[in-house]
Formats: sequence, structure tokens, C-alpha cells
Amino acid sequence: MDVLLGAQWGDEGKGKVVDVIAPRYEVIARFQGGPNAGHTLIFEGTKHVLHTIPSGVFREGTVNLVGNGVVVDPVIFLKEVRALEAAGVDIRASLLLSRRAHLILPTHRALDAASEADKGKLKIGSTLKGIGPTYMDKTGRNGLRVGDIFQADLPDRAAALRRKHERLLSLYDQGGASPEAEAEWMDAVEQLKSFRTVDCEHYLDEALNSGKRVLAEGAQGTLLDIDFGTYPFVTSSSTICAGACTGLGVAPNRIERITGIFKAYCTRVGSGPFPTELDDATGEAIRKAGHEFGSTTGRPRRCGWLDLPALRYAVMINGITELAMMKADVLTGMDSVRICTHYRVKGEITDRMPYDVTTGVEPIYTDMPGWGAASANGRLPDTLERYIATIEQAVGVPISIVSLGPDRTETVMRQPMTAA
Ligand code: GDP
Ligand code: IMO
Ligand code: MG
Repeated sequence: MDVLLGAQWGDEGKGKVVDVIAPRYEVIARFQGGPNAGHTLIFEGTKHVLHTIPSGVFREGTVNLVGNGVVVDPVIFLKEVRALEAAGVDIRASLLLSRRAHLILPTHRALDAASEADKGKLKIGSTLKGIGPTYMDKTGRNGLRVGDIFQADLPDRAAALRRKHERLLSLYDQGGASPEAEAEWMDAVEQLKSFRTVDCEHYLDEALNSGKRVLAEGAQGTLLDIDFGTYPFVTSSSTICAGACTGLGVAPNRIERITGIFKAYCTRVGSGPFPTELDDATGEAIRKAGHEFGSTTGRPRRCGWLDLPALRYAVMINGITELAMMKADVLTGMDSVRICTHYRVKGEITDRMPYDVTTGVEPIYTDMPGWGAASANGRLPDTLERYIATIEQAVGVPISIVSLGPDRTETVMRQPMTAA
């Protein structure tokens, strides 16, 4: 099994790369996150944004598996299905859901909103899709799972969980979800029953034993990981490579290639530390050129220079074997670009990600010459090659994909990639 994941704060372009390389795999499997994700795919002049469904759906012949580590909102899931069906995708033929995936209830969303409002200025900037409360119920052993929808007592169990949530909401002086939202959820659950469900650990074991190639697709990014991200400004799941094992039920020794996706610069949406953030006209120019607005919430993304200590950290934590550098086109035409090579923390220079990134982390930059327009068909400009070589040298792994635009075709394979 190969793994593809975000090496920064999410929105690196994972969806695009999965779509590009999906024909090399028989199975694409999402291993964590939920509708907080927004993975954008663009081909033949059309843009598609996926939230819960893996990014292999547009490639005929691939199975798309929603793993046990994912949290599923039945209402959002069905909307996504309908949008795909309207686009002519035979989604039911290719989609499998793990029975162990947990369900997001309307009151999980209400709890998310109440918790964020309660935090005031310290809010995480959550997408408010109920992700945190759903994973809390999972680890708190209260959750409902996809497999439960086939049980006769599901309505009673959902009502009991809802009552529990309402008690918690009353502590925040908030009410529960509307009766309409509750009815819509029950209706969506009914419809969910018509999808194929599997025990994904057994399904993937058999697939791998029979020589099928599997790609695990991550959501969010390494710096949003619950353990190794910029806590508490993180999401509630394991976004790192280890999360692919727990989120799919696949043993670590079956993992082969691990591809880290990063942008030629950095972005972050929501609150939390961001050492190389550009709070100036350059940041604004990058946001404009890169259309840096959230795929799920439409919020403007914060922009800044590439952060090598953070990227090196992502390579280490995930065991990344190769990198894909996205959005090199966005920096086109700049006279010079900056790379953060080290941090100064309490007067000391370090290339490590410190425990506390919130205050006192000052980036140290190297300036490099910018590059002119590049095309996926021709040679990359020398200055862009130098930028790439500098990153490869600093992090110690090759950059095997360079993306020069949002479309499938705007992709350069620097080394031939074959699924192992
Ligand atoms: P994901 O969550 O990691 O899948 O990334 P998103 O889809 O949220 O955000 C990436 C955005 O950048 C999307 O709008 C993509 O269409 C776009 N994109 C991806 N690669 C490139 C690229 O190389 N150049 C440009 N200009 N846009 C890109
Ligand atoms: P993809 O898969 C970027 C951010 C939110 C917030 C924090 C917690 O498209 O890369 P949550 O909704 O999980 O409670 O939010 O994490 N966040 C993302 N940022 N890309 C994502 O997903 C994200 N999913 C969550 O903005 O700061
Ligand atoms: Mg996204």
C-alpha cells in the first residue's frame, strides 16, 4: 500500500495528485477526517470538490473506500453522491464504506459551534462540521458507527446520544439541532443503507494479498495532526502516515511509498501559529494568484513563505519517501522568493520544530531568484530547478512531482512513478 498525505496545514493539493495518479491503483482509500476536508479536482474544464469521498472516483475501474478512521455525515455524504451522479459518475459501483466509520450527528455540529463560541478569541477556526465532537464520542466510547444503521435499535441509540449532547449543550446555554435537521439526518441514514459496506481491514488484506495496488489518501495535513500538529490548533484525527494504519486496519509493514504533498509556499486556514505568515502585500498577492480561499468554507487562507523546518518535520514524522510540490506557478514572475531554512527560538538557531510554536519563533530566510512561466511539456526554468534542488537537499527526499496549475494535465513527473 502507498500513502499520500499533506505535509503542511492542509489544502496542499492532495485531491489533484490522487486524481492524477489514481489510474495506477485499484483501490483509493480515505483513512481519516471527514467533511472538514475539501479536495479539488479539475479536468476537462470542470471543477469538482470532494469532502468525504476519495479522489479516485473519476477514474473508471478504481474502488473508492471510506475507511474506518473517517467520520461520515450522512447528509453531506448524500449531497456529495448526488452531485457526482449528476456529473455522470456511477458512484454506487465504485464506493465502499467501512462499517467501523463513525457517524456525525446534527448535535455534533451544534457542539462544535458551541465549543468554538465558548473559546472566543482562542477558537480553533474549525470548519464546524462536527469533527471534534464526533472523534470525542469515538474515543469516549459513545459513538455510532456505519454498521449500526442496520440494527433495529439505531433510532433509540441516536436519540440517547442526542439527549446526552443536549445536556452538554445546555452547559453552553445552547439548544440542540432543529427537528428538521434531525429528520433530514434520519432520512439520510435510511438512504445510506443502500450503499455497500465492508470490514475494510479484511477487504484491504484480501486486496493486497491478491496483488491489488492500494493508495491511502490523507485529509488535512501533518501540522494539523492531533499529536504532532500545532496543538491545540489542529484537527481531531491522526493525519500522519501512522493514521493510515489505524484508519484502514492495514499493518505498518505493508506500507511502501509515502508521498508528501506540499505547496511551493505555505497556507493555513483557521487560527493557530504560522511562523512564515506574510501579513502584507506579498501575502495578499500570493492569496490572489493562488486563489487561496477554502474549498469547504470559502474562508481566505493565510499565506506565507515555504517553511523548511516544518517540511523536514513532516518528512520525519511520516517517513515520506518522495514529495510533490504544488502551485509552483503561483510564484511565477516574482523577482525573488524566500525560503525559511531555520528558526530562531529564544536566541538559539534551530532547524527543528519546537514544542511551542505559538510565540517567539522567528523564521530565518534565504532569498532565491524567482522564475518565469513554466510549462508541463517543456524544461523547467533553471531557477525553479534550483529552488527544487535546495528543498530536496534540505529535507533529504526527492521531489518527484511538480504541479504547475490546477488541471490534471498541468503536472510534471520528474521521475517515472510506478506503484510498488
Ligand atoms: P487538498 O485539500 O489538499 O486536496 O487541496 P484543495 O483542493 O483544498 O486546495 C488546493 C487548491 O489549489 C485547489 O483549488 C486546486 O484546484 C488548486 N491547485 C492544485 N494544484 C495546483 C497548482 O499546481 N497550481 C495552481 N495554481 N492551483 C493548484
Ligand atoms: P483538507 O483535507 C485545511 C483546519 C480548520 C481548523 C482546524 C480544525 O482539505 O486539506 P476541524 O473542522 O477539523 O475542527 O478544524 O483544521 N482544517 C483544515 N485546513 N484543509 C483541511 O482539509 C482542513 N480540515 C480542517 O480550518 O483550523
Ligand atoms: Mg482542501
